[in-house]
Amino acid sequence: MYREGQATAIHRADYTAPAFWIDTVELCFDLDPAKTRVLNKMRMRRNPDVPAQALRLDGEELNLARVLVNGQGASFKIEGNQLVLESLPGVEDGAFDLEIFTTCAPAKNTKLMGLFVSNDTFFTQCEAEGFRRITYFLDRPDVMATYTVTLRADKAKYPVLLSNGNLVDHGPLDDGRHFAKWEDPFRKPSYLFALVAGQLVSREQRISARNGKDHLLQVFVRPGDLDKTEHAMHSLMASIAWDEARFGLPLDLERFMIVATSDFNMGAMENKGLNIFNTKYVLANQATATDTDYANIESVVGHEYFHNWSGNRVTCRDWFQLSLKEGLTVFRDQEFSLDLCRDPSAKAVKRIEDVRVLRTAQFPEDAGPMAHPVRPDSYIEINNFYTVTIYEKGAEVVRMMQTLVGRDGFAKGMTLYFERFDGQAVTCDDFAQAIADANPQSELARLLPQFKRWYSQAGTPRVQAVGHYDAASRSYSLTLSQTCAPTPGQATKEPFVIPIGLGLLAQDGSALPLQSADGSTLSAPYTFVMTEATQTLTFVNLDAEPVPSILRGFSAPVVLVYDYTDAQLLTLLAFDTDAFNRWEAGQRLAVRSAITLIAGDADISGVKPLNDAYIEAMRSVLRHPDLDAAFKELVLTLPSETYLAEQLNVVDPQRIHAVREAMRSQLAQALANDWAWAYETYGDTGAYRPDPLSSGRRALTGMALSQLCLAAQTSGDVVWPGKAYQRFKDAGNMTDRFNALAALVSSGHPLAAQALPRFHALFKDEALVLDKWFALQAGATDRDGNILPAVRQLMKHPDFSLRNPNRARSVVFSYCSANPGAFHRRDAAGYVFWSERVIELDGINPQVAARLARALDRWKNLAEPYRSAAREALVRVAAKTDLSNDVREVVSRALA
Ligand code: ARG
Ligand code: ZN
Repeated sequence: MYREGQATAIHRADYTAPAFWIDTVELCFDLDPAKTRVLNKMRMRRNPDVPAQALRLDGEELNLARVLVNGQGASFKIEGNQLVLESLPGVEDGAFDLEIFTTCAPAKNTKLMGLFVSNDTFFTQCEAEGFRRITYFLDRPDVMATYTVTLRADKAKYPVLLSNGNLVDHGPLDDGRHFAKWEDPFRKPSYLFALVAGQLVSREQRISARNGKDHLLQVFVRPGDLDKTEHAMHSLMASIAWDEARFGLPLDLERFMIVATSDFNMGAMENKGLNIFNTKYVLANQATATDTDYANIESVVGHEYFHNWSGNRVTCRDWFQLSLKEGLTVFRDQEFSLDLCRDPSAKAVKRIEDVRVLRTAQFPEDAGPMAHPVRPDSYIEINNFYTVTIYEKGAEVVRMMQTLVGRDGFAKGMTLYFERFDGQAVTCDDFAQAIADANPQSELARLLPQFKRWYSQAGTPRVQAVGHYDAASRSYSLTLSQTCAPTPGQATKEPFVIPIGLGLLAQDGSALPLQSADGSTLSAPYTFVMTEATQTLTFVNLDAEPVPSILRGFSAPVVLVYDYTDAQLLTLLAFDTDAFNRWEAGQRLAVRSAITLIAGDADISGVKPLNDAYIEAMRSVLRHPDLDAAFKELVLTLPSETYLAEQLNVVDPQRIHAVREAMRSQLAQALANDWAWAYETYGDTGAYRPDPLSSGRRALTGMALSQLCLAAQTSGDVVWPGKAYQRFKDAGNMTDRFNALAALVSSGHPLAAQALPRFHALFKDEALVLDKWFALQAGATDRDGNILPAVRQLMKHPDFSLRNPNRARSVVFSYCSANPGAFHRRDAAGYVFWSERVIELDGINPQVAARLARALDRWKNLAEPYRSAAREALVRVAAKTDLSNDVREVVSRALA
């Protein structure tokens, strides 16, 4: 017998086309939480291009009752997780019907893959390999069929019955049951199948698209949540309009449905016509959701909607091509949000936020044991490869293509891609080729084979820049060199194609024209396309040494190393016309002050890491008459502990934490008057609207309050904590209320002990708000090791459950993955807690457990005693013999 834990890696190079095709699928469900009966009737045929072989269907945790071939009982065997039909009598060539009758137990499905029950409602999650937990199937994305689905269930308990496509029939059955029949006109892979059944209510909206076709849009939620669906519906309408306007891609279904569930492993799922969402990315009103929630909902609703073309109409040949749809769709949702920002400054803020995610999550991944190319070569468990590399780095690769062909050229490329491949399952190569073919004169077309190294080589390239000014010739040369460190399985790397946005500033901060040695002036914005290991650029007619602004807009996912002087960084911070590099200059100054101290061995108690120039620069930004509040907030936010850790070869998490905390309180004290000014100036944002401008004001106000409460800690001031408490009580929206609460909690003020229970009482029936309440406490600043005991206590709270992924994330992940200062304890108790939770979660939900397992990815960089203790914890997990493939793959790679 096969069993879990015997996993073997599968390789991209081994891809072969399926031996059979499935043309149509008729599914009939008798829905019952304890035992759901599934009748699956497929019209199949052999793939003539593949040598004749047995039919092998995937199935997991199914009870098989009957198999019929053309209506006749057929002989079969079960081999591990496959149903094998060796001989198919009389059907050697033509099409045949295969009928399979199975049952499954949705109520016992704690993995939340396949068919599961949440709050007495049935949901499915089939990507990547969940459909095989519903019925035996060729569960791979290149097998595309049309589906007809009949759902039968008790009418009182499950009044709403949904599946993909169009409702073609419905009506009553005996014994208080009823049925609904759905037909999806589009061929699709099994991972896009979905059904939902339960007591749900919907917000509905009818729209007519540009071509005059009418569509029904529906957002389904539990009764009581209808007042939180307006923003999701607006986001959906905006997404539909945007995809038509920007890429000419229309909604192709009469009906488009979104359904929210509170038990979900991921953010959301793009099932054809029936997107299923984590409630976190649907439900919002001003009393319960923050500005960040509103922004996330907009981009996730957009993301899933955009998949209807990039993912569904054109899908992936195999799971190694996952970034074909995910990188492209993240790029599309990022562009959507950027286009919705009317203001250039809001666009810059969005770009900085996206880059911050990439650098704090993807760069560490690319430097750690799970590093993999955007198009991986092998995996053991595909669920482990829904990563920031596939998603966010994949999006950066698409963005670079757009840079190389221009915005209009990219739109042309998209049109060609969908013309060429509509209805097919294709590869990353196919996508890149289409973009290049639509732009034959472009740099991308010229450099395509080399450009595609972004798909095949893992690791973050480092670009080192060295400037040299020659007064005699009034010229400035910039030498750029690229390297990329080895990653697992890839010892050496070839040079990448790296678009580098570039500008020069005079020492007074004014922008200088770029004149190349041949006398021509390069038009701004200028992008240099680097292709060699080392290249030198020369600019002429310069009266003095310029300040280079390199990698403008973060034009490529690389680490830029340049030995700036403080003065140069201050010039960039004050004057760069590129908002990204303006922000980046401030970050570099802060990183430099932090790293000098962290890497040294001086006693750091009572240290003041920041110099006067930095503090004055921060004051000018904060008080700046023209800068937007959102941008100010980003500049004034210090680099995270995770980001700082990535700048070091040997990581002492406690030293990083102490230095960063010292910087925070130094800023709090030195700018106390300015924070007070900012609070008064920006504090009243009027009637709530979650637009970028007012969100930015609330973000800066929240930061000011938190800094003022932090300063109060040392000064003994009681006024600001009092104001924070007042705001916490009176706030008219969740953003202000939560920021005020967070200010009290993060400064460790005694008023937090009053505010926290009050907050809980106010929102005891709002699961998503309780998640915030848990997360705030598990992620709070550690004082004398108080957080771990608090986390253990929170796990005993009646509202806590490890089975609900959102709740597990709000406590366990907020502590292990998002609170390094509290997690990395000298006594190793944080790691012990981690190993206990990984093992406990693995018995419930391996996908979520494997995510948690990754909290120790970077253990090899830790200083002692952390390093040995972390290793011990990993070994303890790895020693379990019955681990899931998911966790097994993560811990063995970490220990390799
Ligand atoms: N395709 C979904 C998205 O839009 C994510 C699904 C992830 N599923 C999984 N089993 N890991 O991003
Ligand atoms: Zn996606």
